[in-house]
Amino acid sequence: MKLIDGKKISEQLLDEIKSSVQNRIKINLKVPHLAAILVGEDGASKTYVNSKIKACEKVGFKSSLFKYDDSISEIGLISQIKKVNEDKDIDGFIVQLPLPRHIDQDKILYEVNPCKDVDGFHPYNYGKMTLGVDTFLPATPAGIIELIERTEIQTEGKKCLVIGRSQIVGRPISILLSQNKTFGNSTVTLAHSRSVDLKKLCLESDIIISAIGIPEFIKGDMIKEGSSIIDVGITRVKDLSSSKGYKIVGDVDLKSVSSKVGFITPVPGGVGPMTIACLLKNTISCFKRSLQ
Ligand code: GUN
Repeated sequence: MKLIDGKKISEQLLDEIKSSVQNRIKINLKVPHLAAILVGEDGASKTYVNSKIKACEKVGFKSSLFKYDDSISEIGLISQIKKVNEDKDIDGFIVQLPLPRHIDQDKILYEVNPCKDVDGFHPYNYGKMTLGVDTFLPATPAGIIELIERTEIQTEGKKCLVIGRSQIVGRPISILLSQNKTFGNSTVTLAHSRSVDLKKLCLESDIIISAIGIPEFIKGDMIKEGSSIIDVGITRVKDLSSSKGYKIVGDVDLKSVSSKVGFITPVPGGVGPMTIACLLKNTISCFKRSLQ
């Protein structure tokens, strides 16, 4: 078993981003400014957004956090998004998901200016990604690509199983893995809650990307010898021995797969930190896209 150190790789990426911010400052270019919109009190969302803001400080970005009560109306939220769209100082922003039930997520994402859509969730950018045209890639799939490329795991001709068809992770990474590019050329299966015989699908796969959020679901008897696993699961599980009262657990039972797996990402310290680094990388790319 070879652990893929996402924390270390993300720090390399953050150092690269920090250097490019410093180079911009040296030649009197604008400091990148990332904003986040957070609605409601979801604990995990608050933690993710705070980590994104902290990472901004680390690389020298300016950041803004706009917080709204979960009673905000859809129209109210749209008018706040319009303000951020028009704010010339903000280069990129995200709307943290999930949103409260009374707000139509698709409608909200449609309102984000595609030039500031560093999450890559606007249909314009999502469509470009699907067509293989250069655009903002959603941060988690972008982080997975960085991890696979920097670890030199070959994807060409490999059987790759993506578990989970979410708009944020499963669907985009399945598209990117099948594209005809250096990262890609895999034979992709996208499994979901209605798939049958998941164990058989796992056993046939060279690469498994799991994003289902079921703690330690994947066991050693489900995987092929030497396969690579990218664990995107992040579930809070009660843990009274921790000061927080919980611990973070992935989709894979690391102990159980350890004698068979090739490369694997740990949780925490695998995909999570890469997602944040890639979001910041996307924010830098706003300048390249608008030629500022
Ligand atoms: N919620 C979980 N992952 C993400 C993400 O990558 N972006 C946003 N905006 N919300 C999320």
